[in-house]
Amino acid sequence: MALVPTMGALHDGHMALVEEARRHAGHVAVSIFVNPRQFGVNEDLDAYPRREAKDAQMLQAAGVDILWAPSVDVMYPAGYTTNISVSGVTEGLDGAARPGHFDGVATVVAKLFNQVRPDVALFGEKDYQQLAVIRQMVRDLDVPIELVGVPTQRAEDGLALSSRNAYLSEEERREALALPRALGEAARQMEKGATVEAALARAVALLAAHGFDPIDYVSLCDAVTLEPMTVLDRPARLLGAAKLGKTRLIDNIPVDPL
Ligand code: PAF
Repeated sequence: MALVPTMGALHDGHMALVEEARRHAGHVAVSIFVNPRQFGVNEDLDAYPRREAKDAQMLQAAGVDILWAPSVDVMYPAGYTTNISVSGVTEGLDGAARPGHFDGVATVVAKLFNQVRPDVALFGEKDYQQLAVIRQMVRDLDVPIELVGVPTQRAEDGLALSSRNAYLSEEERREALALPRALGEAARQMEKGATVEAALARAVALLAAHGFDPIDYVSLCDAVTLEPMTVLDRPARLLGAAKLGKTRLIDNIPVDPL
């Protein structure tokens, strides 16, 4: 069985994970759980879009075999005390910008794995650091589950699909395109020989010019360890995270070494 863990408010990005899941297993399970432990105190837990009935319809239409949607009390009953904390790969990027976030992710994903017991689990590359954290946890804890990363699904104009895009006003939705553009331009500049420092600085300036504030990071990292890179000498990932109005957007793309 294949598991696609989600927090609901499903979009084409999730449905691409479901489609890919079919290629890996005879049965597909999808979990929907808006996990309070991965939201910081000032984050959007209460506002996070919840559309259970529509989600269930979409999954049924896609022929999903199991929908696992536990309540918060089932997931974290009174007396619950365990936390899973992965070090190293969680330290920079979103780990730095959102303290405790990846403990929440690792803990709930471990619980979902134990509850559903899949052979394969699929995660989107849009949350690239999340995928790296889960890979590390699975390796470290000998979890007998194959992990599959699925490339980011994008709208026609290039914006990465995300449940949080629903927060954007029309104008913000137009400005949001600056994030994939800034990353794409910086990657091309680096691949043509511009210094990493100069390319990153231009990307930050472009985001600021389009109203992103604060810009949590635009960073070139080792594609596997996520250690920051100052020279493009091995396969890398360019990752960015910034807020547009009240909406925090993230995106990332691969960058090939020179
Ligand atoms: O990517 C998500 O939707 C969530 O972080 C996950 C993996 C379902 C854990 O809550």
